[in-house]
Amino acid sequence: MVNDLILDVHDLKKAYDGVDVLKGIGFSLKKGETKVLIGPSGSGKSTLLRCINYLTTPDAGCIKLNGEEVLDTNIDAMRARMGFVFQDFNLFSHLTVLDNVRICQIKVKGKDKASATERAHQELERVGLADRAEAYPAELSGGQQQRVSIARALAMDPDVLLFDEPTSALDPELTGEVTKVMQQLAKEGMTMVVVTHEMSFARQAADEIIFMEHGYIVEQGAPDFMFNQSTHERTRAFLNVIAEHG
Ligand SMILES: Nc1ncnc2c1ncn2[C@@H]1O[C@H](COP(=O)(O)OP(=O)(O)OP(=O)(O)O)[C@@H](O)[C@H]1O
Ligand SMILES: [Mg+2]
Repeated sequence: MVNDLILDVHDLKKAYDGVDVLKGIGFSLKKGETKVLIGPSGSGKSTLLRCINYLTTPDAGCIKLNGEEVLDTNIDAMRARMGFVFQDFNLFSHLTVLDNVRICQIKVKGKDKASATERAHQELERVGLADRAEAYPAELSGGQQQRVSIARALAMDPDVLLFDEPTSALDPELTGEVTKVMQQLAKEGMTMVVVTHEMSFARQAADEIIFMEHGYIVEQGAPDFMFNQSTHERTRAFLNVIAEHG
């Protein structure tokens, strides 16, 4: 049987100090799909992404990656198959760009230095930074740092890439260079979940948009449906606010 579900999240729940933040979230992602997660501040978007790779431990529910359940006991191996791109880049400041892209390949995947180096150069080329391999993160713009972080994730051959507001720490002129790379990845068939307020990216790259509020998925659908045909009052109200305030 062919099963092309890469990520399958079922009835995920999380509470902080007795307050329910995720109230039973379910969605799935097929190979090559990009889903964009939107919703007001505090709706649980980051908590959901962090629960998927156990940066935050869920209270209940089930997460499957390529048919295999993600558990406390296998989390290191599972994490190696899920790339995570953070808002604040999370690069090692004392390492060069090349070493940032190489280190997990060597330490987590056990690759030898030569093949990790070759792959790092390939991924840096892919994100348009072939000429900055010897720079340190502090010598790069925020947009360039985020592209290094994407290259680092790609070099691990992940089954899925998770992005939590990858451009929200960037000036508008730097946002475009990062969303362009992400759009290209979506086109090339990378499987991705992206939390973002960049609606032009969502329109162009998402197979589906998921709207979350108060720990629930309120509605999900293709971009055209969500932007133009949704009759759900909360979805429309949220998209109107985004359209007004960018
Ligand atoms: N470590 C934590 N301890 C306690 N409460 C938390 C923790 N992390 C998140 N929360 C709470 O959980 C709720 C959901 O937070 P979350 O960060 O997932 O929202 P979000 O949708 O990502 O918001 P934003 O758009 O502002 O990033 C919020 O009320 C938040 O205060
Ligand atoms: Mg968040």
